[in-house]
Amino acid sequence: MASPPRSEPDHGLVEDHSPSGSPSPRRASHRSARPWADGPYGAAVRSGRGPLWLRRADGERHRLEVERWCGPPDAADRSVLERCAGQGPVLDVGCGPGRLVAELMAAGVPALGVDVAAAAVHHARSLGGAALCRSVFDRLPGEGRWGTVLLIDGNLGIGGDPGCLLARTRTLLAPEGRLIAEVESEDVDERIEVSMEDDAGRRGPAFPWARLGARAALREGRRAGLRTARAWTSAGRHFVTLAR
Ligand SMILES: C[S@@+](CC[C@H](N)C(=O)[O-])C[C@H]1O[C@@H](n2cnc3c(N)ncnc32)[C@H](O)[C@@H]1O
Repeated sequence: MASPPRSEPDHGLVEDHSPSGSPSPRRASHRSARPWADGPYGAAVRSGRGPLWLRRADGERHRLEVERWCGPPDAADRSVLERCAGQGPVLDVGCGPGRLVAELMAAGVPALGVDVAAAAVHHARSLGGAALCRSVFDRLPGEGRWGTVLLIDGNLGIGGDPGCLLARTRTLLAPEGRLIAEVESEDVDERIEVSMEDDAGRRGPAFPWARLGARAALREGRRAGLRTARAWTSAGRHFVTLAR
């Protein structure tokens, strides 16, 4: 199946490498707010450190773990990586600086990262990983043929509409493929507006995001035609596997 129509609400983060034609006014307005692609995230990835937060409209904030993302895979990451072995090619959606893609490729597992942030893609490539600067909602290589799709480090939040993201993910998977998603430790199901905020309190434009615990992820997965295969916890992080 092709990418969702451009008129769908609030994927928020349309990247400008799309093969499709001229931008509509709506797409142009999405492009004017590219919090991950522009803004302080790129600088943080280049320096390997934050602090950087997602600031919510209600004042609460969630720290982006830039240092961990720029470091080597930890125990929880390894619990994901070992589940990728022997399951066909892996697509890491929102791969960030690319520690997972690089590790998979070093182990001989075919893998590709996609991310809208050029700095993240550059970093992933510098680690020896294959990565594309593109949105998950754009056309991607190997659609319908990926053995595993990853949504790690809160990436179920991408676009702020998990139902849409999971439906898109399903179109990327091979018939026997499965999604591995990291979920929140709490039993949450939130659609929120956030802004990227740096240490000096400077904020970027608001954009939609989502936070899902395991229950909500499984429920959204079912709606998108994905069935639960298993859930596990490693080193304090929580994951679910959803199969086609
Ligand atoms: C919460 S961070 C997770 C980082 C990451 N998994 C890592 O290992 O560093 C979200 C990531 O998703 C990327 N992203 C946001 N919207 C995206 C989209 N529509 N398509 C692909 N990547 C996206 C961001 O640039 C960012 O690197």
